[in-house]
Amino acid sequence: MPTMTGNAEQVIIKRPPSYADAQLFFLETKKFRELMMMYNCAIREVRTKLEVLNDELSMTQKRNPIESISTRIKEPRSIVQKLIRKGSEVTIESVQREIKDVAGVRVICMFMDDIYKIADMLQRQDDVTVISVKDYIKNPKSSGYRSYHMIIEIPVFFSDRKEQMMVEIQIRTIAMDFWASLEHEMKYKQQIPNEEQVSVQLRQCSYDIADVERRMLEIRNSLPEDEEYY
Ligand code: GTP
Ligand code: MG
Repeated sequence: MPTMTGNAEQVIIKRPPSYADAQLFFLETKKFRELMMMYNCAIREVRTKLEVLNDELSMTQKRNPIESISTRIKEPRSIVQKLIRKGSEVTIESVQREIKDVAGVRVICMFMDDIYKIADMLQRQDDVTVISVKDYIKNPKSSGYRSYHMIIEIPVFFSDRKEQMMVEIQIRTIAMDFWASLEHEMKYKQQIPNEEQVSVQLRQCSYDIADVERRMLEIRNSLPEDEEYY
């Protein structure tokens, strides 16, 4: 099985490329696009599952547990870079086998307890297989990063077959997302004067945010329940 980059390089390096090379290149490109289409479908399935949970919970709780849902497909360049970093060959098969975050869904909730409610309900659905869970809320990263991550596998039905597709889901509160955005921005800056000091400040902000979130949750829980209106 020739590799994706192998083919691409052959086509680019040989002058002129042979017809067979070009055919192989286009075949691989088509397979790659097909795979990305499949991940996009998996994302749509997960989004629908989340929207259904949000609709139902918003009736019983009288507020939306989910603030927003955003999705992304990993860029081809990032996919290839990750495969190379992992020391895997660059083939369509290894993308499916090795990269668990090609399809990404980010769920933003208002409160911390919403995160666990949503995660638990999703995990209990019988077509959802949980591959892994990383709870960076109970165990924040040393950077201060907090978020609930899970990799799940769901079936997606195509014209003639069913495929199990992996999707990475990140669930976090608005406050956690606010923190992660600024920290992410800092990571990608080339030169930061007193970087160590900024990291310490960010870590402290993460503790402070966690504390404010707990207090806000206590306040919310102390409020009386709404009357039923008919
Ligand atoms: P990746 O190979 O980067 O995907 O990480 P991983 O396989 O070790 O998984 P992990 O669950 O730790 O991280 C997945 C994703 O969470 C990352 O790609 C980021 O989007 C996000 N993330 C993880 N750690 C941090 C962090 O310290 N800061 C921020 N801002 N985001 C983070
Ligand atoms: Mg990632």
